[in-house]
Amino acid sequence: MRAVRFHEHGGPEVLTVEDVPMPTPEGDEVLVEVAAAGVNPVDTYFRDGAYDPGELPWIPGSDCAGTVAEIGDAVEGYAEGDRVFATGLGNWLQGTCAEYAVVPESHLAHLPDAVDFETGAAVALVGVTAWQTLVDACSLELAERALIHGGSGGVGHVAVQLADAAGARVTTTASPQYHDRLSKLGADDVFDYRRDDIADAVTEAGAPDVILDHRLDDYLSFDTDVAAQSARIAAIGNSDLAATFENVPQCRAKDLTVHHVSMFNTPEFGAVLDRLATLMADDALTGVVADTYALDEVADAHVDVLEESFLGKLVVTP
Ligand SMILES: NC(=O)c1ccc[n+]([C@@H]2O[C@H](COP(=O)([O-])OP(=O)(O)OC[C@H]3O[C@@H](n4cnc5c(N)ncnc54)[C@H](OP(=O)(O)O)[C@@H]3O)[C@@H](O)[C@H]2O)c1
Repeated sequence: MRAVRFHEHGGPEVLTVEDVPMPTPEGDEVLVEVAAAGVNPVDTYFRDGAYDPGELPWIPGSDCAGTVAEIGDAVEGYAEGDRVFATGLGNWLQGTCAEYAVVPESHLAHLPDAVDFETGAAVALVGVTAWQTLVDACSLELAERALIHGGSGGVGHVAVQLADAAGARVTTTASPQYHDRLSKLGADDVFDYRRDDIADAVTEAGAPDVILDHRLDDYLSFDTDVAAQSARIAAIGNSDLAATFENVPQCRAKDLTVHHVSMFNTPEFGAVLDRLATLMADDALTGVVADTYALDEVADAHVDVLEESFLGKLVVTP
């Protein structure tokens, strides 16, 4: 099969498309014919060596959607030809930027017939991240106010929809060209994060009870200013300890909780994907595909996911 691989850590130029042996699913593993794979910032961290993928050469890609091609002898819930989507891959398990990927049954869910593969791939990793932060870590409740930083991003655009589906009031930030589309996705209040008076605007909309923060070093101090008493903050990006320690007094003053969340720690990927599938089938959740890339364009996708602005997700279609 054709797969993107890197044999050493480095910039996007270390990515090559190669013919590699077809993997064989064993035990509880499922072989998925990949129709689409999401491009996530974490793929670049494994590639450049900031995160350790465990072995080299390595196939990048942390999520996918496609069709079951073969199952291991212990698989019970899937059969050849099933439409599925998956995440929790590309770290200690080889990734998804390939024509086929081996996925443990626990990392899969069925994809509703009405949802195309690109959309499934666009939702998988970011959907589990948004669920783990808003639902599992922060226990977002009906009629609470959620602040989603970066609502136009991969995680952000799904988090806006999940918070809305949960019955919360949703404030989000994004570049102005995305405001109308974010309102349609369920945001009640959308603000440009570049505004000088952004803290006043967020506070006037309603002090957030739950905050999803994708750049904690930049925004934890802001979060503590605008947060409601006893608010819960979930940090998914740029969370070095200095920003956390500097803001301990402010957190204590308002009895704030800061959760540092890694999507890869999700105990049951399949269970969360299954809930996301239900929401997609009910038209309460969709993934927005901003652009697609062929396998031999994955190096461009790794650059674009970090440097370009877009609403939604970049997706590889092998
Ligand atoms: N911990 C985890 O498990 C986990 C899981 C997924 C992602 N992450 C991390 O979370 C971060 C976001 O991931 P993603 O996939 O959503 O990335 P993404 O799709 O590239 O989205 C980035 C978002 O950041 C916004 N942004 C850019 N500059 C900003 C600024 N100065 N202030 C506020 N917002 C700004 C962008 O807005 P505009 O384009 O509108 O300007 C966009 O909405 C990354 O660091 C990623 O590694 C962590």
